[in-house]
Amino acid sequence: MTQETHESLLEVRNISKRFPGVLALDNVHMKLHPAQILAVIGENGAGKSTLMKILGGVLTPDAGQILLYNKQVTIDSVATATKLGIALIHPRATFSRTVRIHKVQKAIIIS
Ligand SMILES: Nc1ncnc2c1ncn2[C@@H]1O[C@H](COP(=O)(O)OP(=O)(O)O)[C@@H](O)[C@H]1O
Ligand SMILES: [Mg+2]
Repeated sequence: MTQETHESLLEVRNISKRFPGVLALDNVHMKLHPAQILAVIGENGAGKSTLMKILGGVLTPDAGQILLYNKQVTIDSVATATKLGIALIHPRATFSRTVRIHKVQKAIIIS
């Protein structure tokens, strides 16, 4: 069940990312609200992992902004993402083994 409030938890504005020969993300917008579960769906190669890696600090975007609680942040490393409370969890990882539930309450988990 998801719940949407007017408050923005995490927002992506105009994010673009190019790899040699491919524009993986072209001006992407996304908004996540507190307590909301958001599914990003798309065919293989649509850019889902690239966007999640940018939010997790694995990749840096070529353009665009990331806002956390309406404040612009720079996520330049996994360590920075972790400090901001963003965790990128590989889809094949076992969730219960990776993150203890009591630690999840204030985190943004991307899987
Ligand atoms: N490290 C990389 N180097 C070059 N091209 C990449 C790299 N990562 C992703 N791509 C390309 O970017 C596009 C988006 O990939 P990806 O984000 O993995 O899509 P999805 O997760 O939606 O399947 C694809 O064309 C993919 O081949
Ligand atoms: Mg993927």
